[in-house]
Amino acid sequence: MARRSAPILRAEYESRAGPNIAKDRWHKPELRPLDIEGRPVLVKDYRRRPLLYRETWGRLMVARETVIYRTLDGIPGIPRYYGRMDALAFMIERIDGPEGGQVEPGSLSPAFFDLLRETVLAMHARGVFHGDLRQRRNILVGPEERPYIIDFASGLRLPRNSALLRFLARTDLSGVAKIRRKLAPDTMTDEDLDLLRMERFRPFRRYRVRRREERKRL
Ligand SMILES: Nc1ncnc2c1ncn2[C@@H]1O[C@H](COP(=O)(O)OP(=O)(O)O)[C@@H](O)[C@H]1O
Ligand SMILES: [Mg+2]
Repeated sequence: MARRSAPILRAEYESRAGPNIAKDRWHKPELRPLDIEGRPVLVKDYRRRPLLYRETWGRLMVARETVIYRTLDGIPGIPRYYGRMDALAFMIERIDGPEGGQVEPGSLSPAFFDLLRETVLAMHARGVFHGDLRQRRNILVGPEERPYIIDFASGLRLPRNSALLRFLARTDLSGVAKIRRKLAPDTMTDEDLDLLRMERFRPFRRYRVRRREERKRL
């Protein structure tokens, strides 16, 4: 698979892109919006992060995430991939709509979750594991209530049909079940309930929950 370059150069992007739409943290990439030939685009960019960090971790993350976006390009429910600008930034389709964490429980139709599940299965069929689907902010509610999956920073590309992928795939699906339980509890399927039962066996869960509560209090 050939590497793909973004359709504009950094200089033009720097002068035309809007401000970061994500939380501004030194260890997080900026996500800056831009329109190219009328198409809404978002650039995920480590350029303004501390030098040592961006030249090591930033480069690595861009390399990993672009491989995944390229592998998934064309699947409905995944933002289109428009290519890499340089070693520190790449471009994807910008989806207009709230994050899963910003919508009211009960406001989404069951079809939303069925589509979401289909997208996850299509992603697995191309050998990609997402790894962070329990977070509602990694799902966007696009136009016409279509679900989009974003943020492949924790993702992995694995041999298709490998035992490891099949195992990890269940973790992704249980993430979707968890989101469904939160946002549309009366539409849970037997399979969802089954997947959530598996949750209890996640060994570090209790510890993580406690840490999160502690952080909230600070
Ligand atoms: N394709 C997109 N369209 C619209 N908003 C997006 C898109 N990708 C990311 N975002 C927004 O930017 C935020 C951060 O992006 P994300 O890829 O999750 O970065 P990080 O790896 O730093 O978590 C997301 O939570 C979402 O609100
Ligand atoms: Mg994220």
